[in-house]
Amino acid sequence: MKSLPWWKEAVIYQIYPRSFFDSNGDGEGDLPGITSKLNYVQQLGVDAIWLSPFYTSPNKDGGYDVADPRNVDPRFGSLEDAKELISSAHQLKLKVIADIVPNHFSDQHEWFQAALLAGPGSPERARFHFHDANPDGTPPNNWISLFGGPSWTRVDDGQYYLHLFDSSQPDLNWDNADVHEDFEKTLRFWLDLGVDGFRIDVAHGLVKENVLEHHHDPQSLSNALRLDYPMEPEERNELLLSVPYFDRQGVHEIYRKWRKIFDSYGDREIMAVAEAWVHPPINATKYVRADELHQVFNFDLLTAPFDAAYLFEVINRSIELNSTVDALPTWALSNHDSPRVASRIGDDQSRALAFFVLALPGSNYIFAGQELGLPDGELSDHDRQDPSFIRSNGLIKGRDGARVPLPWSGDISPFGFTTGKPWLPLSQSWKNFTVEHENSDPHSLLNLFRSALSIRRKHLLESQQIEWIESPSHGARGGSILAFKRAAITVVMNLSGEGMDVEFPGEVLFASSGPVQVNVSKKHVPARSCIWISN
Ligand code: GLC
Ligand code: CA
Repeated sequence: MKSLPWWKEAVIYQIYPRSFFDSNGDGEGDLPGITSKLNYVQQLGVDAIWLSPFYTSPNKDGGYDVADPRNVDPRFGSLEDAKELISSAHQLKLKVIADIVPNHFSDQHEWFQAALLAGPGSPERARFHFHDANPDGTPPNNWISLFGGPSWTRVDDGQYYLHLFDSSQPDLNWDNADVHEDFEKTLRFWLDLGVDGFRIDVAHGLVKENVLEHHHDPQSLSNALRLDYPMEPEERNELLLSVPYFDRQGVHEIYRKWRKIFDSYGDREIMAVAEAWVHPPINATKYVRADELHQVFNFDLLTAPFDAAYLFEVINRSIELNSTVDALPTWALSNHDSPRVASRIGDDQSRALAFFVLALPGSNYIFAGQELGLPDGELSDHDRQDPSFIRSNGLIKGRDGARVPLPWSGDISPFGFTTGKPWLPLSQSWKNFTVEHENSDPHSLLNLFRSALSIRRKHLLESQQIEWIESPSHGARGGSILAFKRAAITVVMNLSGEGMDVEFPGEVLFASSGPVQVNVSKKHVPARSCIWISN
């Protein structure tokens, strides 16, 4: 078997640093906390960790408001702690992916502070999108921020600046050479410190066009662009086709330049994954052309219903579209921006789907806590901190539910996460979701994840092809069973509410519902579950 670059078929564990593990009792997770739990991560059997931002930040948007991209925020530790984390991870053979946020800075970044002082027409303002007000004093256009409210904020001298997200996140102007230069410096800074790749935040947003034009329905567009906003797929896709500020051709030039930087690190096999939620889906593949980035996130499964026809279509489409540019797809069921999958589609369903997609070709991104089956935290409005909650006056509940810290041990909240008061409360009902509890139960989701990852590594990776053997358009039980073969494994998911028997030959290796029956010719697939059979 020819060996693939490490990232082609990786399982990547996403850590939201603030919520992972608190090493010093201040109630917030930090870098030393992550380092101290790397053994746990390694024993899961993943290949890499992706760290959400830990840079200097006023933390108005969970660190995605970066005030100094080449330093560590004191709440998370120091640069020394970052080095320590990276080298400990490498000792355990875990790759490290950092998050880079090139669409905007924090308003506390020195460039933005200088731009405020320097005034209209200055080179300092040219690094952002400052424009004069309309003659009647209104903002330059009617765009609505992705977090609600206008996309423009007025400064004292009457000009407005553009922010697609919070008013504390001014968008950068990628027509400006300083911006290019500064980000290239940041990439090299972290690469030189040892990271193995980047997740590129809002990768499709950097280049703006038509910044002065209005949109015909800016409020619905802003809703459509939020993963936590439920909307009919047809309506969402229609709106996504009309986004004036995303997916402009110019972004690809930037990634071609970045690719040269990554490749200049030679056999370190540096990779980058784009957060680019674009429509139509074929456009996503442009980000992974041979001279651009390595992967692009696939958002389909973050909003998909547990429905055979729907899943069959989006999974196939992703495999096929990526193959046109010789790339493999990526899969994710949860992240820090969307409701946790167990809460969104249900406990059994989320387990079944997790093991179904783990067997697919390409890379899997697992949001820390998903391996425990964690649901969203139960929060009161009083606890919420997401800027979208604040900017919408509570109309949008926001993403805090998915960001509640992880339960590690013991019987009472905060379950070993901190010795202090956690920044978001952990639900008292989580006592059966702790790492300690699941470690001791051989059939826990945690232990199933470990087995599945080890089987995946041993038996699945030799082939990057799948062959469907049962699907809505193929097979007798239309709508209830999805099944495919890959390498020596047959993967079967029963989406219905009733158990079913299948007669595929081989031995059941693994079942998302728990214990397996060995060596039987008729295999029982419980309701809403997934089994792996070795041929
Ligand atoms: C991305 C991040 C999200 C953040 C936004 C603005 O979508 O995943 O958490 O709020 O960008 O940076
Ligand atoms: Ca801490």
